[in-house]
Amino acid sequence: MLAIIGGSGLCQIEGLEIIRREIVRTPYGQPSEPIIFGMLGGKEVIFLARHGSNHSIAPHNINYRANIWALHEVGAKSIISIASVGSIPNNIKVGDFVVPHQILDYTHGRNNTFFDGKENPVKHIDFTHPYDMSLRELIIKTITQLNLRVSPLGVYAATQGPRLETAAEIDRYEKDGASVVGMTGMPEACLARELELSYVAICPVANHAAGRGESSKGISSAMLNQSSKQTIENTITILQQLVKAYGY
Ligand code: HPA
Repeated sequence: MLAIIGGSGLCQIEGLEIIRREIVRTPYGQPSEPIIFGMLGGKEVIFLARHGSNHSIAPHNINYRANIWALHEVGAKSIISIASVGSIPNNIKVGDFVVPHQILDYTHGRNNTFFDGKENPVKHIDFTHPYDMSLRELIIKTITQLNLRVSPLGVYAATQGPRLETAAEIDRYEKDGASVVGMTGMPEACLARELELSYVAICPVANHAAGRGESSKGISSAMLNQSSKQTIENTITILQQLVKAYGY
């Protein structure tokens, strides 16, 4: 089954008919909220709000291990992560969607593996291509067919947060090869890989990154927190179409 992890601006999905909620206990503690089972676009999906249903869990405090474990436990095979980002280059605009193909991880101090105990000895997963390529293709096709703006390639820089970046940090990430910046993409992606779940991210662009474009003088919290109504609607439309196209 397909699972959707909703991020900022998507703590719930309008149009998702909720069938039931399940409290899942994991060896790593509690997920961000009970797992929701519902119908979207005529198909059953699993939904989890990464920051909790009232957006109270900061990126560095999210129990990523519990979230991914719980989704695996209830039968998810693929995860679509909705993760809003700031865009670094000029040609990626606010309201665009980016489907990243690579990751740079600048986070620290987060529990980023299931393989760290006597019962789960060290295992080095292959992470050359961190996202599921065929699911990425399907997403790009779906967004294109909806006539929405999409960047079919992108390097996602995962930052620690919760503060935003300095302009110099953004310059550095750009030199490293990053095109978008967000706070939740890691360790979610590698934990999903450890449990052999396919994982992709759809990144709605909420703002220009610090020091860039409209953010040259700063980033207003209104801009960051209020994914525009239009972007949220577009995200839900993409998900509805995607669920229809996803082979169960
Ligand atoms: N930086 C980090 N995370 C973000 C941003 C940003 O500019 N916008 C949305 N999430």
